[in-house]
Amino acid sequence: MLLNALQQAAFTLPLHLPAHGRGRGFPPALAALLTGPLGPLDLPELPSLGGPLLPHGAVAEAQQATARLWGSRSCWFGVNGSTGLLQAALLGVLRPGQRLLCPRNLHRSVLHGAVLAGLEPIYYALPFSKRWGLSQPMDVAWFQRVLGAVAARNCSVDLVLLVNPTYQGLSAPLTPLVRLCHGQGLPVLVDEAHGSHFRAHAALPRDALAAGADLVVHSTHKSLPGLTQTAVLHHSGTRICRHDLEQGLLLLQTSSPSALLLAATELAAAWPHQQPQASHLLSQAMDRWTHWRQQLTGTGWRVSPSDDPLRLRLCTMAWGRSGLALDECLLRLGVAGELPEPAGLTFHLGFQPPCQALSRFRKALTQLGWSPLESPGGVEVAPQPAPTPLLASSAVPPRIAWFGPTRRLPLKEAVGHVAAEAITPYPPGIPLLLPGERLDEERCAWLLHSQHLWQHPDGMLDTVKVLR
Ligand SMILES: Cc1ncc(COP(=O)(O)O)c(C=O)c1O
Repeated sequence: MLLNALQQAAFTLPLHLPAHGRGRGFPPALAALLTGPLGPLDLPELPSLGGPLLPHGAVAEAQQATARLWGSRSCWFGVNGSTGLLQAALLGVLRPGQRLLCPRNLHRSVLHGAVLAGLEPIYYALPFSKRWGLSQPMDVAWFQRVLGAVAARNCSVDLVLLVNPTYQGLSAPLTPLVRLCHGQGLPVLVDEAHGSHFRAHAALPRDALAAGADLVVHSTHKSLPGLTQTAVLHHSGTRICRHDLEQGLLLLQTSSPSALLLAATELAAAWPHQQPQASHLLSQAMDRWTHWRQQLTGTGWRVSPSDDPLRLRLCTMAWGRSGLALDECLLRLGVAGELPEPAGLTFHLGFQPPCQALSRFRKALTQLGWSPLESPGGVEVAPQPAPTPLLASSAVPPRIAWFGPTRRLPLKEAVGHVAAEAITPYPPGIPLLLPGERLDEERCAWLLHSQHLWQHPDGMLDTVKVLR
């Protein structure tokens, strides 16, 4: 039974999402809610409760209170994660054939939203660090070049997507980026799934709503101490019509949203504003991150830079090891990380890490018997930046490619063909290839190299679906 599996899925040391860390980081009111009997609280849209799209009832009031706290015009709670709310935003704001300017590190939910809404995305590349084997957040000059390239093509864009911070906890300077878009009359949607806690501490990067974004999606389970599946969509300013957003939400929302999950969303979304407790907890998290890094680098490990004290990434590439291999070995020792990648492994330390977490973690790393200092170097596992131009639109809109007549080809024979599927190792769920893109030799060679890097049971296939 699934329940048995659930009860047994306890790693000795869980360093993965959700951010509440097996309940240790729940705000007191949520912890109290979940320790009582849950049966009586498992309710749908009763008249007194209402739901996210109903104007009256407790859910509407909770959403209004949350919007007031965050300073947005309105917000909606969602029970299908950031996925559902990002897609609802796209379906609400854009019409078939309209253009979404989006980064290459978009989450697959956005791609699927583009398929559902029949959009024509324009993809912009991001800087890449060979040192860390990782995409980096862009700076203002980079984004100016992106917008300059859009202008040079003389093509209109209807919405700009920024993904901030990255899964690994790196943040861009959002305020000037949003200002650049607004200066050109472009509304901005920020996928802030991993950064909803930035609001809680003055030393953390400025959050997207404070930076002036028009739409912001928060994952209350990835970056606030809420329950899995819960998320919030915020709407600010006057560039986007509230009614359009509600229409988008209507297309995707269940007609029986769980009142329990919605109540948990309200409590988690209020957390950053519970001061001084929240900022105190994050100050502790910052000290903890620094201490972990000192201890780990002291024994030869490389820790990637991070703007998020809850995410710690070991860069394994330098000593010729893959983050996927490290993950597999640690899982056998009862330590579960969050995001294995070819060049490293990211751990989520959670709002309240388990006790003695660092010493248990170090013990597991010692047990591995890996010897970083005697390593051969990381050429074998070094990811390369995708050979894509700064700006590219696909040969065919993703929706046409997704639903078109297709056949499957070995990757190496796919040169010249248009991809009809995304290639998306998960996590992180960031596509290496997007449906509608035409493959050239360089891209095929890069995908073959990536396939070698992502080799594990759920890794990439050596074939790709293409349009006939
Ligand atoms: C950047 C980003 N956006 C959105 C999502 C989707 O979030 P959810 O799992 O809440 O649907 C993810 C999930 O990993 C993500 O990394």
